[in-house]
Amino acid sequence: MSETASRPHASALPPTILIADDEPSMRDLLSLLLETEGYSVLTAADGREALRTFREHRRRIQLIIQDLKMPHMDGVALLGHFKEESPEIPVVVITAFSTWDSAVEAMRLGAYDYIRKPFDTDLIRQTVHRIFERRTLLETSPESLRREIAAHEDMIGNHPKIQEVMRMVRLIAPTDSTVLIQGESGTGKELAARAIHFRSLRKTQPFVSVNCSAFTESLLESELFGHVRGAFTGAVDDKQGFFRAASGGTLFLDEIADMSLTTQVKILRVLEERKVCPVGSTGLHPVDVRIIAATNKDMEKEVRERRFREDLYYRLNVIPLRLPPLRERKDDIPLLTGFFLAKHSRQMDKSITALSDEARAALSQYNWPGNVRELENIIQRHVALSEGSTIDSIQMLSPIAGARGSVGDASQPLIPSDGIRLEEELAAYEKRYLREALKMTDGNLTNAAKLLGMSYRSIRYRVKKLKVKEREMELDLA
Ligand SMILES: Nc1ncnc2c1ncn2[C@@H]1O[C@H](COP(=O)(O)OP(=O)(O)OP(=O)(O)O)[C@@H](O)[C@H]1O
Ligand SMILES: [Mg+2]
Repeated sequence: MSETASRPHASALPPTILIADDEPSMRDLLSLLLETEGYSVLTAADGREALRTFREHRRRIQLIIQDLKMPHMDGVALLGHFKEESPEIPVVVITAFSTWDSAVEAMRLGAYDYIRKPFDTDLIRQTVHRIFERRTLLETSPESLRREIAAHEDMIGNHPKIQEVMRMVRLIAPTDSTVLIQGESGTGKELAARAIHFRSLRKTQPFVSVNCSAFTESLLESELFGHVRGAFTGAVDDKQGFFRAASGGTLFLDEIADMSLTTQVKILRVLEERKVCPVGSTGLHPVDVRIIAATNKDMEKEVRERRFREDLYYRLNVIPLRLPPLRERKDDIPLLTGFFLAKHSRQMDKSITALSDEARAALSQYNWPGNVRELENIIQRHVALSEGSTIDSIQMLSPIAGARGSVGDASQPLIPSDGIRLEEELAAYEKRYLREALKMTDGNLTNAAKLLGMSYRSIRYRVKKLKVKEREMELDLA
């Protein structure tokens, strides 16, 4: 290395890294590697020494790399001290397979990243480089960044629960940390993911969104990792895959709980090694993506019931973000309603500016199972159907009616003089919507449930009850 220019902070004092490892050969290897890169290095041979050195030089230490198994003080306990005393200093832990459970624990305690032994020296170099690059960028361009972001369409809400989410979004956006967003359908998970991306240092790079429940297992893998020509029937060309397409940017893995256990193992490997291997190939391609995952399932339950790997869960859940359901922040309904009213009036070139008292009351009394998405759909539909400047009354119908603009005559019921059988009418009505939703989603219950603003469990129950079978549906369609 003769080029000083490529070294970090060539002119200022070099950043200092503390290395704590009980193996002399490992300390030597890491020191040599990092000093060659232009960093200044401090070393410690056990936990106690590490803590002492840390306390003595805390002001100049900017990164800690520590082993998890050391004499005198267990690595997890050591990490706990670091995080308690200086939570802003990133810690990378080095783990062997035998200390795998501790690695999971370390991530939970706030380690920035972990590296598995034996490792590739390139991986160390890249990891350290990434950490310092992020710091430098953060220190040099916060103002311009904020201005650009302000122009971006955003999340709104005044309730403390959503305010807390927005605060977290601002806080975590500029880091490269992996985020796991949990929340019911329609609560704004994708919106939050975009907000994070567009406030991050990666904002000029791609934001790639993948719905993991929309593909079969093998298709999802080739979509994510890419494939080479001839890897399987139908693979007529090379395909680079979403991981590489998102290179430099953010990969949003939506409906993460719907991924098979096999795919989970493969994703975990990519996240650990930061390399992808396209289906049918042996070559590895480096990938640089920030991962944001989302789900409307209870992940802890998924892990407990062994449908989701614990190690991948911790890998993804570095920063958890929970979006509250709309019914828990009903105070925001008027604000959101106003926002959607303005948005859709503008789009449809109308000037609807108000709601009657009756309409307002209807909106605030409703329970909003489909959350903000359902509210938006309803407002959109009423804007489409209203003339004049006020929405007089609100009809809560299935959200797809709004989305498709096919309300029909449902808002104006006609009862013939000999009466009707309401139960049967309603069942027929429901069945029509279930069929339509299943048709639109190729029989995918999860997606159909979303379209109808109901839970997966509820759609499954209704489909069974009304005997809407996919087969029957196909026959009907044929
Ligand atoms: N806080 C908010 N402010 C403004 N609009 C919002 C807010 N939250 C959600 N929305 C809007 O509601 C709709 C649904 O949001 P989004 O798609 O992000 O939800 P989701 O949680 O990903 O839903 P699903 O689980 O169904 O995929 C979008 O049109 C989004 O713009
Ligand atoms: Mg979504």
